[in-house]
Amino acid sequence: MEYNTPQIVTFDKIGSSQLGYITIAETQKNVPFEIQRVYWTYYTPHDVTRGGHAHKELQQMIFAVSGTIIFNTEDENGKKETFTLDHPTKGLYIPKLVWRDIQFSHNAVLLCLASEIYDEEDYFRDYEEFKKITAQK
Ligand code: TYD
Repeated sequence: MEYNTPQIVTFDKIGSSQLGYITIAETQKNVPFEIQRVYWTYYTPHDVTRGGHAHKELQQMIFAVSGTIIFNTEDENGKKETFTLDHPTKGLYIPKLVWRDIQFSHNAVLLCLASEIYDEEDYFRDYEEFKKITAQK
């Protein structure tokens, strides 16, 4: 699998409907980067759109461990896509230079595995700036 575009990755699950399930994410095994940081978001109201940024270097693998999360993305070539995370086995891989807007069902919990520690300098928070820089590439 080539990990240079945004894409849904289906992770294995172990278990049964009687006992419940476990899903495992491991560096270099099914996550194509060293995991440096983990964060989660929760209680986002349904009518709120989060995201609204792109990253200069950061790679992410993102899960909806609960609920449904919809990503509207735009990559550095201007390609726009919609990805729906609606099952705990589904991860969304996001490489660098992908603008994303994110919407959540009321019960959604977003879990993010990230390739770098937090650095505000790594963000494009201005869409016009993102478009300007990627147009030059
Ligand atoms: P942001 O990345 O804009 O979140 P979202 O895309 O979910 O809207 O981050 C929200 C706030 O949290 C912002 O003030 C930066 C801060 N933050 C950290 O301090 N460390 C982190 O690792 C992350 C992801 C965010």
